[in-house]
Amino acid sequence: MNRVIHQGVLRSALTLLCCSVVLLGCTRDIVSPEDPAELLRLGGPMTVSSVSVDAFGLPAPFLSADERARFVVGNAFFRTNWVTAPATTTSRDGLGPTFHASSCSGCHFKDGRGSPPEPGEIATGLLIRLSTENGTRPEPTYGYQLATRSILGVPVEASVVINYETITRRFADGQTYELYKPHFTFESLGFGPLAAHAEFSPRLAPQMIGLGLLENVDASYLESIAAEQAAQTTGVSGRVHYVYNPETGSTSVGRFGWKATQPTVLQQTAHAFAGDIGMTNSFVPEDDLTPQQRVVLGPLPNGGKPEIEDDVLRDVAFYSATLSVPARRTQPSDPSSRGRTLFTTVGCGSCHRETMHTASQASIPALANVTFHPFTDLLLHDMGEELADNRPDVQASGREWRTPPLWGIGMIPIVNGKRRLLHDGRARTILEAIMWHGGEAEHSREAFSKLSKADRDLLLQFIESL
Ligand code: HEC
Ligand code: HEC
Repeated sequence: MNRVIHQGVLRSALTLLCCSVVLLGCTRDIVSPEDPAELLRLGGPMTVSSVSVDAFGLPAPFLSADERARFVVGNAFFRTNWVTAPATTTSRDGLGPTFHASSCSGCHFKDGRGSPPEPGEIATGLLIRLSTENGTRPEPTYGYQLATRSILGVPVEASVVINYETITRRFADGQTYELYKPHFTFESLGFGPLAAHAEFSPRLAPQMIGLGLLENVDASYLESIAAEQAAQTTGVSGRVHYVYNPETGSTSVGRFGWKATQPTVLQQTAHAFAGDIGMTNSFVPEDDLTPQQRVVLGPLPNGGKPEIEDDVLRDVAFYSATLSVPARRTQPSDPSSRGRTLFTTVGCGSCHRETMHTASQASIPALANVTFHPFTDLLLHDMGEELADNRPDVQASGREWRTPPLWGIGMIPIVNGKRRLLHDGRARTILEAIMWHGGEAEHSREAFSKLSKADRDLLLQFIESL
């Protein structure tokens, strides 16, 4: 009870503070894109024109003053470093006992993307999901995630070490390129060995933009995309990932995460709080600790039950859903936009769909009936053996991945300093990401590989402009 008041008080204080900040300076950085062409406005009404380090962190331009205040509150909690319980700042305690980072922004730095750990670094923006029995059971000792940090007195679960094997291959014209294949090992296992048949899936923290748009695309619309793909002869055959949605008590479209396992931004947020930070909430009331770990650890401090109050959870989800998409930058060196044409002709656009529409009813009214340009179909695709994690997740197989939206991809290096691509961050460049494509995308990868060097470069430049 006491802590509920505390978090509530903190939240009200923040709201008050934020309202005054909003009134003083609400128009920062929000201007219309230089080029009025609709296609450059990747997020439709959620587009902002920014080429700064803050490009992923700007609110949707249509937010009302009240919504803007809520966004600012959500932002503050997104960046809050939660602390070990019990603490004097009881509104912010409950971290761990095991965790990956102490804040959302610890992984989604600047609302952007994580990267795999460098040698000797603690893995943060890349986490390891665990299971046994084809993704259906938690790993018996460590649960569903292998945490790389812990509170005082609790062992760290493991450190993640990645060794890369360099693979050299050739384009159709004979020019060579290198791929970087990761091999994972888990060292310093704090609670003993992993089960012999443990399955694991490395996942990179993606950028957080335009999520409210993706949340409001109808299931029937996605089904029609899947039907369109099935009618093609290129081997592309995506499918909608249906998952259980506790908010409605029924099955919904999975949209978020690399395997589209979460149906809403709120669910993704609830699972992130509990799984990544160790902050329990009404949707995920228990920490990711196995019975075995509970025995070893004995009684543990907690920051209340739940540790995150519902209002705070919803404000963070609102913030996450209303982050804008930076406008596309034109490429003066490609005036005919040949790169964009090539993107379509080699078949990238069948999965990375340029244009989508939201439903006529939306969770945020301004997002109803909107046309936008995410470069995804939100469908699961078999991407072949080389990208497989062999760990099924809900209904997604060990070879299936959701097409990631390509919007903002050209801005990642500006926001995050570096850019690693694909679910495990193995690709150091856009070119490498493409050349890892297999399975349903093999046809498209081969078509790309057969382009002249000049055309490959124009296609890459086009992606860089997103
Ligand atoms: C340990 C690093 C880490 C932390 C901390 C973290 N995330 Fe994430 N986030 C990820 C990873 C990894 C994924 C992809 C998950 C998957 O594939 O299932 C992700 C995915 C997401 C997505 C879905 C994006 C998309 O395009 O599908 C949202 C929204 C999100 N996180 C919000 C949050 C919020 C809110 C918090 C804080 C409560 C948070 N995250 C904390 C690593 C992190
Ligand atoms: C069959 C569907 C499909 C086709 C066709 C396809 N992709 Fe992809 N693409 C995916 C999926 C799924 C992933 C994620 C794979 C992973 O992370 O393991 C992906 C990942 C990417 C990424 C990395 C994105 C990120 O956020 O890390 C880039 C860049 C990309 N694709 C570009 C292209 C280009 C360019 C083409 C055409 C040559 C293409 N793709 C064709 C489905 C497809």
